[in-house]
Amino acid sequence: QVTNLKFFNGREMPMVGLGTWQARDEEVRQAVQLALECGYRHFDTATLYQNEEAIGDVLSKWISEGKVAREELFITTKLPTIGNRAEDVPKFLTTSLKKLQLTYVDLYLIHFPVGCKGKDENDLQPRDSEGKVVLDMSTDHKSLHGSHGGTVCRIQPANHQVEIHAFHQQRELRAVCHKHNITMCAYGPLGAPYKEKTKEKTVLQDPVVTSIAARLGKTPAQILLRHLIQLNIVVIPKSSNPERLKQNFQVFDFKLSDKDMRDLDNLDQGKDGKLFIFTESMIGVENHPEFPFKIP
Ligand code: A2P
Repeated sequence: QVTNLKFFNGREMPMVGLGTWQARDEEVRQAVQLALECGYRHFDTATLYQNEEAIGDVLSKWISEGKVAREELFITTKLPTIGNRAEDVPKFLTTSLKKLQLTYVDLYLIHFPVGCKGKDENDLQPRDSEGKVVLDMSTDHKSLHGSHGGTVCRIQPANHQVEIHAFHQQRELRAVCHKHNITMCAYGPLGAPYKEKTKEKTVLQDPVVTSIAARLGKTPAQILLRHLIQLNIVVIPKSSNPERLKQNFQVFDFKLSDKDMRDLDNLDQGKDGKLFIFTESMIGVENHPEFPFKIP
């Protein structure tokens, strides 16, 4: 059974990780503790989540007690927009490492592709932005392979983390990443059920999903996660509930048939299925001198 996804450089990323966005302090501490007990070894955080310290506490305790080795863990954190300048990256990475009580992370992601100007390095949600757009994360392949014939990125990215779930399957972007040997990680893989619903049903409630779940004796969440895993997409469902956290990791003891995969593939609503809309003002780019951005 495949439980890891291989990067172009030979490193491996566990197919299931724990998402920790919006989980703070005691909640995230308990979730990480429980996840480690269940067998999770992959944890996804970010400077912006402001929970690196709490996560670091639990990880370092497990490591120092010899219950897990650092090399068994896969830790992702993210550079905030106020750190999107080459000379500032070491400073923000060092701060994250200190908070996580680690000497390295396994994956360091650019959280958003724009650089913002904060009042200071604790001003994580700045309103002003500056500098160049470092990478367009849309589906336009020109951003990964420049229209001037050269590649825009000097360093090959290993992984691209975006919203992916049955209603928003990112086919075009998946094809681009596949072509460039970039693995993908799905955030919101359960269709972010906590979000204000503009749609009449959530992904978890979709009859195609619930009927496959009932037939296989699995939960709808397990079906949705398994669908993405079989598409070679890493998933990072967030849960702070012991029962749900556990079931989200139990997705390696069954396989979806080609027919079930096809039926799930057919749930894709393309752009209409997107749930996370980051407006310009939310990420502070509306005052950016180059806004609205155009790819050269
Ligand atoms: P909770 O933390 O109470 O379990 P996503 O990762 O797609 O953004 O989804 C996260 C949301 O889905 C959280 O609100 C989480 O709530 C809920 N959730 C996590 N696992 C499950 C599950 N197995 N079944 C239903 N809801 C889940």
